[in-house]
Amino acid sequence: MRARLAILISGRGRNLRALIAAVQDGRIDAEIVAVISNHRDAEGLAFARAAGIVTEILPHAEFADRRAFDTALADRLRSYTPDILALAGFMRVLGEDFVAEFRGRMLNIHPSLLPKYAGLHTHRRALAAGDAEHGATVHFVTSQLDGGAPVIQGRVKIQAGDDEAQLAERVLNEIELKIYPQAVAWMARGELRLVDNMAVLKGQRLERALQMDQLDEAFR
Ligand code: GRF
Repeated sequence: MRARLAILISGRGRNLRALIAAVQDGRIDAEIVAVISNHRDAEGLAFARAAGIVTEILPHAEFADRRAFDTALADRLRSYTPDILALAGFMRVLGEDFVAEFRGRMLNIHPSLLPKYAGLHTHRRALAAGDAEHGATVHFVTSQLDGGAPVIQGRVKIQAGDDEAQLAERVLNEIELKIYPQAVAWMARGELRLVDNMAVLKGQRLERALQMDQLDEAFR
């Protein structure tokens, strides 16, 4: 049976579009059962609707506190029985109960070379530090912010004169839009799992993140 994929977004939805495209062209063998946004005006919702995908809006501001939001989100998600939950630019920290329920099924994409720069403003921080390279990482979600087991990451060189927006765009285009569909495809095929806090791909424990040269041909 095809894997059931639910996707959480907060905004623009470029990663979401890449996931939808990879499902549509068969690179990800999954059915997208729902796209849920915590913002009413998330641009990504329109792409999902145009692709005929069920969407839901759960505005976090309308809940009494974090826990109430998490509980409502878990309730909604449970109704879709997802095998995979992909956070795609979802800008809310999820609490421990939520993370425990979806542990091993939940992936995130983070725009930095984790473990460097967990949290916000990653491009700005890489530039301020004078780093020679920057990138993005797909990881399993645990209760530690951007701290779960890494799966795959890719790097770009920081060029003289790069500003935050240019660097963000390059990381998105050259790295994120390739590694995220790949990681979700592995999950959908049952090849990627979380075992004892470590990512395991095709039976091999990933002591550190895979790199771009390990992408399947179709995802390059
Ligand atoms: C991406 O850079 C993602 O890595 C980060 O937030 C951004 C979301 O962009 N978590 P989009 O909504 O996928 O266009």
